[in-house]
Amino acid sequence: MTDHDDASAAQTDVSEAQIAVHWREEDYYQPPAGFAAQANAGDPAIFGRFAEDKFPGCFTEYADLLTWDERWSTVLDTSTPPFWKWFVGGKLNASYNCVDRHAQSDAEKTAIIWVPELESDEHEHISYGELLRRVNEFAAVLRDYCGLGAGDRVTLHMPMVPDLPVTMLACARLGIIHSQVFGGFSGNACGTRIADSGSRVLITMDGYYRAGDLIDHKVKADEALDEALRQGQEVDKVLVWRRHAGQYASQTPMAPGRDFFVDELLAEHQGAKVEPVSMPAEAPLFLMYTSGTTGRPKGAQHSTGGYLSYVAGTSKYYQDLHPDDVYWCMADIGWITGHSYIVYGPLALGTTTVIYEGVPNYPDAGRPWRVAEQLGVNIFHTSPTSIRMLRKVGPEEPRKYNYHFKTMTTVGEPIEPEVWRWYYTEVGKGEAAITDTWWQTETGGFLGSTLPGLQPMKPGSCGPGALGIYPVIYDEDGEVVPPGSGRAGNICIRNPWPGIMETIWGQPERFIDVYYRKYNRDQESTDWRDWPYFAGDGALQAADGYIRILGRVDDVINVAGHRLGTKELESAALTVDEIAEAAAVPVMDDIRGRIVEMYVSLKPGVAPQGMEAKVSRAIEVEIGKIARPKNVWIVADMPKTRSGKIMRRVIASVSNFTDVGDVTTLANPEVVDKIRRQVQSTKVAKGEQPRELTEAEKEEIAKYGNAE
Ligand code: WTA
Repeated sequence: MTDHDDASAAQTDVSEAQIAVHWREEDYYQPPAGFAAQANAGDPAIFGRFAEDKFPGCFTEYADLLTWDERWSTVLDTSTPPFWKWFVGGKLNASYNCVDRHAQSDAEKTAIIWVPELESDEHEHISYGELLRRVNEFAAVLRDYCGLGAGDRVTLHMPMVPDLPVTMLACARLGIIHSQVFGGFSGNACGTRIADSGSRVLITMDGYYRAGDLIDHKVKADEALDEALRQGQEVDKVLVWRRHAGQYASQTPMAPGRDFFVDELLAEHQGAKVEPVSMPAEAPLFLMYTSGTTGRPKGAQHSTGGYLSYVAGTSKYYQDLHPDDVYWCMADIGWITGHSYIVYGPLALGTTTVIYEGVPNYPDAGRPWRVAEQLGVNIFHTSPTSIRMLRKVGPEEPRKYNYHFKTMTTVGEPIEPEVWRWYYTEVGKGEAAITDTWWQTETGGFLGSTLPGLQPMKPGSCGPGALGIYPVIYDEDGEVVPPGSGRAGNICIRNPWPGIMETIWGQPERFIDVYYRKYNRDQESTDWRDWPYFAGDGALQAADGYIRILGRVDDVINVAGHRLGTKELESAALTVDEIAEAAAVPVMDDIRGRIVEMYVSLKPGVAPQGMEAKVSRAIEVEIGKIARPKNVWIVADMPKTRSGKIMRRVIASVSNFTDVGDVTTLANPEVVDKIRRQVQSTKVAKGEQPRELTEAEKEEIAKYGNAE
């Protein structure tokens, strides 16, 4: 049963026999009184509108939230599976939908409230009218100064400043495909993405505040350009926004003829008007790079019409955005959450969206709640890592502030039921509904969540499939694992939906291989029913249809909600000349969910001194600080199979103090004990033993590295 049943069916008792073997089923929490009465989705009739027999037409309800220049002729075109096309024949402009139409109806209304990290700096309120002016002027720079137009790709490497959505929307205005790289990624990581997307313009910023310091960010642009060039892509212009007008926060020189300050260019385009270019629904809106099993990042290509419809619809029903709400999502715009649920979803609906520059606990653990009180935030959205961290550093801070959330979201990682309860009781003060939203870079918007006004919450479980989304869990052989069986499997979505990526930029074969090959029933079929979407997550479905996500099954380590590919980490370590072999493994962490540990072996004759630091540094340079390993273990030899494959599950077990399992079939079983003594005695001495792991966590470790 993956159907969207009404609330009463969702509450049917789960019998003892059906209880998941690994977990106690948590009790339901009912939507808060009063919420349903004001909810955008408050009438259970909505389940009927999105019932499976209404597919795909049900999604026109989302598309109708937008203003179209031309209406579509076909809702879903399945003629070239699995490259689904939504709202074919339709034309629209994303920037017009997110800015112009709201500026026309109420120019004074606040679109964005920007909160700089330093508390002494004033908040900036940007009205829809003002946003329209800024987007137009920057679009003029892109078109007239850079010569960019529809279909060109542009890489952005920007921090959490309002200039970032201005840049994205200016690109969208012209049909330019933006590819924003998370600001915390290194110059090299940015360069790889510039090369992959074929961008000849990079848009960046001189610096930004993080944990109280003004960080030099432009330095990464120079590194990025070197790396891109090494990979064959030349960049001819770098546009540099300035954090403080007229000042320059970077140590690196501006390259004459290549680097330009945006504020100076804007001065030449004051008052410019740029007509929004009417784009076909299936024209790409942006690329968002993410990690997978192999080292090369995947540029998830999202469409204009389908994507924007899907984020508008889910923002309306799941985030419950009303025009007068003040909505704050603390994610970074450099990730998909920020694209969909800070920028495109909220602005498409004409809401007020808050953008915060810095870290949540700067200067202290009360900051988020002070911001909420000052701005009257009533919808809040963050990740389990932030919740765990704020709970640790300030468990009673929220009650000191007078704010009231009607609904709160968590996203990006599984949330532990006890952390969920702190979020509910302390942060939400028992008044707010929680949506635990499960989805991915590739999916554009939510796949699994409760509808906050209509479906009860269950801590640790995201809920059933979202409206119009029909999940199924398959075992390795493609047999359905029935809900309530207590068995885990690979979660898939049976049907396409408008937010699904169109392809992986430049790698259509990989798109099919990674997401569809495994459970495709017939390669020739143009019936979507033969093409379930493979999400790459392990999951378990209870008898009530609620889904518990266990984590990645594809050698991706989810560190604080950031997806890091094992292969990317290992290739980064291997850029150190002295390293012969490298293996990355996840270690359970109470705050960040998972952290990375590296195992490396050295080339013959190399002295181990200083190698740990060199490996850490290499990872920082190739990927970014977020990927820095907790430990680098230099081992004489890696445990290997007879065919020479490194047994990552064995070293992962050592790092997590779990049972290494059967190692008798290894080519070199004797190394396991040596590694265990070396690693575990050091960890014990440093006080790094993890807590007792859950069954699910043990299973994750025991299976780790199997995806290869
Ligand atoms: C994980 C983030 C449990 C999952 C939007 C998924 C989650 C990956 C949840 C995608 C959740 C995301 N509960 N796990 N509510 N949301 N995940 O691409 O493993 O950065 O596949 O997109 O995060 O991460 P991504």
